[in-house]
Amino acid sequence: MSEKSRSLTPQACTLVIFGGSGDLARRKLVPAVYNLLLDGVLPANYAVLATGRKPLSDGDFRNTAREGILKYSRQKLQDGVWSDFERRLFYVAGSIDEPQAYKQLRERLEQIERELKLPGNRIFYLAIPPTSIAPAVEGLQGAGLVQPPNGDGPFSRVIVEKPIGHDLDSARSINAAVAKVFDESQVFRIDHYLGKETVQNMLVLRFANSIFEPIWNHKYIDHIQITVSEAEGVGTRATYYEEAGALRDMVQNHILQLLCLVAMEPPYSLDPDVIRNARMDVLRCLRPIEGKEVDRYTVRAQYSSGKVHGAEMPGYRREAGIKPDSTAETYVAIKLFVENWRWSGVPFYLRTGKAMAKRASEVAVQFRDIPQILFNANPDVPLPANVLALKIQPEEGLSLRVISKVPGTKAKTHPVDMNFRYGDAFGSPSPEAYERLLLDVMAGDASLFMRRDAVEASWSWITAILEAWRQHGTKWLPEYAAGSWGPVEANRLIESDGRTWRVL
Ligand code: BG6
Repeated sequence: MSEKSRSLTPQACTLVIFGGSGDLARRKLVPAVYNLLLDGVLPANYAVLATGRKPLSDGDFRNTAREGILKYSRQKLQDGVWSDFERRLFYVAGSIDEPQAYKQLRERLEQIERELKLPGNRIFYLAIPPTSIAPAVEGLQGAGLVQPPNGDGPFSRVIVEKPIGHDLDSARSINAAVAKVFDESQVFRIDHYLGKETVQNMLVLRFANSIFEPIWNHKYIDHIQITVSEAEGVGTRATYYEEAGALRDMVQNHILQLLCLVAMEPPYSLDPDVIRNARMDVLRCLRPIEGKEVDRYTVRAQYSSGKVHGAEMPGYRREAGIKPDSTAETYVAIKLFVENWRWSGVPFYLRTGKAMAKRASEVAVQFRDIPQILFNANPDVPLPANVLALKIQPEEGLSLRVISKVPGTKAKTHPVDMNFRYGDAFGSPSPEAYERLLLDVMAGDASLFMRRDAVEASWSWITAILEAWRQHGTKWLPEYAAGSWGPVEANRLIESDGRTWRVL
């Protein structure tokens, strides 16, 4: 039976977390497993074995896990459930570069599987820097920890966290190293945005309603804006962020995936590869931004000091661990085109930044202006166009701006928003992205994961921009005050087309 045709029910398994003493495990992964347990969707039999360089005992790891849940879990810690949960959490110390560590990992894993009567299904979660991915998969193979994909025996799957490399070449070599050990059907490359409820709803909205598809094209849509703004600054991730910057950190993965979902053709089935092919086609259609064009189509900037939500924030270059002459961009705006019949001539404007006025992410579809007749006859006061805003976070839902008559005896019009909010409509808070994604890996469903070709296609597009930026140098990097909506250069990018950024 191939990985693809396995039944899509989460299977009893052990989740082995590399980088197990790190931030992601504590903040996201362990709380995600705990919430799946509370929701009653986790397989009845499971274990979590974390591994990392830090010399922790099972007890230490359980304490850290408990703290993580208390602080970050979507649902509260329940003592009764916790005591059962903690008995299934384990830790083994070891270094990724040390063959001996994999032998110990194997012994510990087999011991846990024996004691808990687990069937030997294993998910290896690589929450480690990109340079450690190749040694980790080789180590797993060397210790005989990886089963072939098509056998009838237990499964081995690997989850690869971002960043997968820092440019096209490095992404290719990581993918090649992974492919030497795992079949593509066993590889789950995570982009946690795809696990967000509101992001998944983009497909449902587009393809489970009859009203959108007929108008979802260049005839009716003027342009699309994708915004992912964060109020936080670089925080404690200086070392990583200095090397990455906003283009690699947010655009290469999350924002391009949002773009794929809003721009893709209707898939003919919900089969993971059919959906992934449809997303991939969008990446193939991206018009490259190369050489001199980079100045016309992109803006990069860095935050200077300012106030975010009333609190002082230092400029990026004064943040802890940041070089005083750093040229890492903390903001990017891009204008791009998807070159196919559906989107011919429709600009997509993307923007993302840290230390912005507020946390707000959305995909906004702005429809064309109505003719300048009837209610829109006065050129001095044009009617605003209809906008469908798919709100991703922190507000979750959608809003449709329509023009309405103002009550009264005059023929006065005014834009109004029709709002749908997840919280109001469904009551319960949405599961965290990592919950859904971990469950999908346990079930072997790769729909919401990145295929190798998609990772490389998006890196290819991004690398052209990086290369042009490198050639142009950064003698002059625009700034924006922390707590603002980005640099004036980004306003110019869109305003020179006669459009404006949405006010969020
Ligand atoms: C991560 C980036 O992938 O996504 C971070 O590395 C960013 O820099 C984060 O803050 C945003 O995720 P979310 O789910 O909080 O929007």
